[in-house]
Amino acid sequence: MRVFKDKLALSAFLSDKSKVGFVPTMGALHNGHVSLIKLSVNQCQVTVCSIFVNPAQFNDKNDLLNYPRTTEKDLTLLEEAGCDVVFIPEVEEIYPPNLSMQNYDFGAIEKVMEGEHRPGHFNGMANVVQRLFDIVKPNLAFFGEKDFQQLCVVKQLVKLLDLPITIVPGAIIREDDGLAMSSRNMLLTSLERTQASGIYNTLLQIKNRSNTSNPQELLDFAVENLKKYPLIKPEYIQFAYADNLENLTVLDKSRSVMLFIAVKLGKVRLIDNMLIYE
Ligand code: PAJ
Repeated sequence: MRVFKDKLALSAFLSDKSKVGFVPTMGALHNGHVSLIKLSVNQCQVTVCSIFVNPAQFNDKNDLLNYPRTTEKDLTLLEEAGCDVVFIPEVEEIYPPNLSMQNYDFGAIEKVMEGEHRPGHFNGMANVVQRLFDIVKPNLAFFGEKDFQQLCVVKQLVKLLDLPITIVPGAIIREDDGLAMSSRNMLLTSLERTQASGIYNTLLQIKNRSNTSNPQELLDFAVENLKKYPLIKPEYIQFAYADNLENLTVLDKSRSVMLFIAVKLGKVRLIDNMLIYE
């Protein structure tokens, strides 16, 4: 496995490769990330993973300061997963002073849920993804459905810039108790970690009841169910159509419907989602 810090050296190394798969990450890797690496290894000639904690997408300074960094362990996991190339740039490598930030218009999909609760987050995320795409020039890029709205924004970015990159989604990988794997899980206290299973428990119970109740009854049930886990402070829980992330109050079962949740447990903010109707 080759490790690069320098973007020009990485670009030169990749320039004669024919099918490049790319998995951008912020490190503190877990099996969710590993599943994306394996998808890429199975489909591509060369798999590149980037590890870069992107300051531009953190709307909360403390979240950036506390973000876990476990580079040595990350490199071991990547090597075991069959990754070929790791890119670990410094901030100046990605954000040289002469390059100004882009302001994108992603329309309605960036104005709801994470877009509404984390102002500037998707614009900062898209800036780094565009710069990384420009350096790696992948044929395929892999993004997890755990961050479903991010996946939608990245697809929109590729369309907007007319990039020749196929965006491949990866399913959510969960812990044994259903908690979606996340780099931030390691910041939970043991009590918070135990109660965090209430996020998945609530999503699953709503899915199981979705044929017998209307959306408002289901959301009321969710709020009640979450009270069994007093350390969970819900930020939002809502249904949205999978194709345009439009909030819905009446279920249109001819469309794919998802349930989205964001909560805080102590200082840690977690998100999750579930497909309710195909
Ligand atoms: P990060 O949170 O490190 O996630 C990197 C990729 O792993 C994302 O595509 C994310 O959706 C996916 N992922 C995370 N947890 C997952 C899980 N439990 N199951 C499946 N996939 C999972 O997302 C980012 O970094 C950044 O925003 C980034 C795209 C790298 C831009 O900075």
